[in-house]
Amino acid sequence: MHKPLHIVILAAGEGTRMKSMLPKVLHRIGGRPMLIHLLETASSIDPAAIHVVVGSGSDQVRLACSEFQVNWVIQLERRGTGHAVAQAMPSIPDDARVMVLLGDHPLIPVSVLRELTAGRLVPLTVLTMELAKPRGYGRIERDRIGRIAGIVEDRDATPAQRSIKEVNTGIILSEALELRRWLEQLGCDNSKQEYYLTDIFAMARSEGKEIHGVLAPDPLDLQGANDRRQMAVLEQRYRQRAAVRLMEDGVQIIDPARIDVRGHVRAGQDVCIDINVVLEGNVELGDRVSLGPGCLLKDCELAAGTVVHAYSVLEGVRTKGACEIGPFARLRPGTELSQGSRIGNFVEVKNSRLGENSKANHLSYVGDAEVGDRVNIGAGTITCNYDGANKHPTIIEDDVFIGSNTELIAPVTIARGATIGAGSTISQDAPAAALTLSRVRQTTVPGWKRPQKKEKP
Ligand code: UD1
Ligand code: MG
Repeated sequence: MHKPLHIVILAAGEGTRMKSMLPKVLHRIGGRPMLIHLLETASSIDPAAIHVVVGSGSDQVRLACSEFQVNWVIQLERRGTGHAVAQAMPSIPDDARVMVLLGDHPLIPVSVLRELTAGRLVPLTVLTMELAKPRGYGRIERDRIGRIAGIVEDRDATPAQRSIKEVNTGIILSEALELRRWLEQLGCDNSKQEYYLTDIFAMARSEGKEIHGVLAPDPLDLQGANDRRQMAVLEQRYRQRAAVRLMEDGVQIIDPARIDVRGHVRAGQDVCIDINVVLEGNVELGDRVSLGPGCLLKDCELAAGTVVHAYSVLEGVRTKGACEIGPFARLRPGTELSQGSRIGNFVEVKNSRLGENSKANHLSYVGDAEVGDRVNIGAGTITCNYDGANKHPTIIEDDVFIGSNTELIAPVTIARGATIGAGSTISQDAPAAALTLSRVRQTTVPGWKRPQKKEKP
């Protein structure tokens, strides 16, 4: 029987190297704060408790992570990683195992944590990785027979120590009782005058305690982010991982280096995603959905067979059957399209439902509208839904034909089968199956002459 696992996440750093007003752990990877990624991963291994050490901007951090069951620990002064872990120790019982994670390592895979916790518990374990460019990381010092002798921080290392490629990932597992004792003995005689968590390795070694250094096979997911350049590396990695996952589910991605997934995406079979597509929030793509180049989709549910052409922006959209959208369409929250409907170029739709086989093919604004089946909305049609104070609905019943360049002044109803003549301004309900139009009758003035330019005197 394993001892209860307590996870401590260090998130009190100011992130000076980010040069930002935002607390470091709230910087986003894949559209979500780094700390949220870590909390999701940590929660999924079911620890007895998760303690998050916060300091700078703690209210903001707590608010952003309010959906998680967490013991928030305040570190009033930022005095180093060892000091930060010590703040959490009063909430951790002696018989626990403690796993320390750093808040600036958001992409740690669950499998890595599972493997580490499944192993035999020794007083101290550290997960290490080998990096070609280990700059900024604590270097792992090993003795002649490969046992860990200590960890030396980059800024305190000698040139010889700096050439070591094996580094501390920041993931440490320890027995609570021993950890508590070591933390109490930490000093801050180093270049930063901080209490380094990593100094406990030399202590454990001098006491002859067993230390495990587990070398991770793949460092890509274990890297941290101290500055914007490292953030970009993590973002790229996140993107790559998301693309691989989608391809494994059967999605064709034209270029996996040119897709951004910033949320949760579920896709059916034979979905095809062209280049430079951004998917945010919760996106569900049914079988055979096709997304053209440059599309942005946020919180959308597209039914099987829906085709979105190039450069369309969709947010909060639901299609209930195969539809065609774009190119250059803008669909805003509350848009619902039925089977066979079509939204063409430069059409904006908001909070509106279109029935089956209805079309708005060019240059229109459809807002707060209820559109029936087989409706044709001509180019340049505008639902005037806003009177400057309130929004009003437009109802367009089945089989209506709206001529081009028409304004529908809401609230207004266009009854079943009605035809609206092009260029009309419709401010009253239009009756069923009749032609309604409100334009000035065309006249021709016989004998009219264009004015001539006057001769200059
Ligand atoms: C740390 C490790 C280094 C390791 C590297 C991995 C130490 C001394 N160094 O260095 O060995 O290779 O991470 O990325 O542990 N934090 C607090 N309170 C503090 C100081 C830091 O909560 O007083 C938090 C930060 O918010 C951050 C994490 O601890 O999330 C790590 O701190 P950071 O300053 O980024 O340490 P590194 O220099 O990256
Ligand atoms: Mg760091």
